[in-house]
Amino acid sequence: MSHRILLLPGDGIGPEIVAQGRRVLEALRDNHGLDCELDTAPIGGAGYDAAGQPLPEETLAKAQAADAVLLGAVGGPRYDELPREVRPERGLLAIRAELGLFGNLRPAMLYPQLADASALRPEVVAGLDLLIVRELTGGIYFGEPRGVRELPSGERQGYDTEVYSESEIERIARLAFAAAERRQGRLCSVDKANVLESSGLWREVVERVAADYPQIELSHMYVDNAAMQLVRAPKQFDVIVTGNMFGDILSDCAAQLTGSIGMLPSASLDERGKGLYEPVHGSAPDIAGQDKANPLATILSVAMLLRYSLGKSEHAERVERAVGQVLEEGLRTADLQGGSRVVGTVEMGEAVVGRL
Ligand code: NAD
Ligand code: IPM
Ligand code: MN
Repeated sequence: MSHRILLLPGDGIGPEIVAQGRRVLEALRDNHGLDCELDTAPIGGAGYDAAGQPLPEETLAKAQAADAVLLGAVGGPRYDELPREVRPERGLLAIRAELGLFGNLRPAMLYPQLADASALRPEVVAGLDLLIVRELTGGIYFGEPRGVRELPSGERQGYDTEVYSESEIERIARLAFAAAERRQGRLCSVDKANVLESSGLWREVVERVAADYPQIELSHMYVDNAAMQLVRAPKQFDVIVTGNMFGDILSDCAAQLTGSIGMLPSASLDERGKGLYEPVHGSAPDIAGQDKANPLATILSVAMLLRYSLGKSEHAERVERAVGQVLEEGLRTADLQGGSRVVGTVEMGEAVVGRL
């Protein structure tokens, strides 16, 4: 059976890094028996330019029909003054919501070859392997009411609403407990239960779900402390489960532990395991179009796609091994410290393809 994979390059460095992800898929197809068909569609600013919407209807229809989606990044200064409902970021939020991608897996693992690339001392990060499970279709990103209103004084007030229902908390908690079962058996739920009502309910529901996973060691941590602990002693964590906004912030923080945000892949999954895969970083307008972007987060997202949506774990391991090998050989994009040779986006992609 041929797997249909939809590529959504997006904006900024998105097209450059997705081009390298595409080459990896094509090489697996041509040389390693991966049966796949690739298609492309615009999203984000590119969607707005092509069809006046950050998530064109045709793009959504193709994504719904595909077995898996690979996305680059969206957004950029050209689009920052647009009305909020047509901004590129809204296209990303809309595709997550439309496809029901509530479960965002953001693994942060340190390639041993990059121990000296982290901003932290090698002994603090050596062997780092943690997984952030971020709730992706709820919380303050989607809560109503939201808007900007005028107060009686004439002053304007902006507001958003943090909301979580029991069923939303329960399904992300189950996903995280199941992930912890396959790993080291430790789950840390991160919230702000000392202040927020929604976090109080979050903690209560996570505790309730824990009864079904007696073998998992569950702990709770406030988000401010969690940010500090991630930088102080990141190896204390196995799996972290948290809400949409806390997960967004903590995953960029965890990214830097691994040497660069250009290294972090992610998978966003629906109830049945269908998924959208994308690097954790954004469209990096400051380096777009210069062949400087690190394509490895995207290539590692391809590995997650192969493993989770296509069930091709051998192909996934082949990709991950190839990435390890190019790092071992000393190749580095400019965002990574160390190594013996700085290469551009295209050369890094070529090198990975050459080691598959
Ligand atoms: P960003 O992640 O795009 O960039 C932050 C910094 O990291 C920049 O200095 C950038 O050059 C660097 N960087 C990011 N990815 C890199 C890579 N692959 N290789 C080398 N360096 C890399 O975050 P930002 O600057 O806050 O946001 C820029 C735009 O991207 C905004 O429009 C934002 O909304 C959007 N954004 C999109 C996504 C997404 O599509 N998933 C994620 C985050 C931000
Ligand atoms: C991410 C990004 C997005 C988010 C933005 C661009 C909507 O920062 O994927 O981490 O906040 O979820
Ligand atoms: Mn983010």
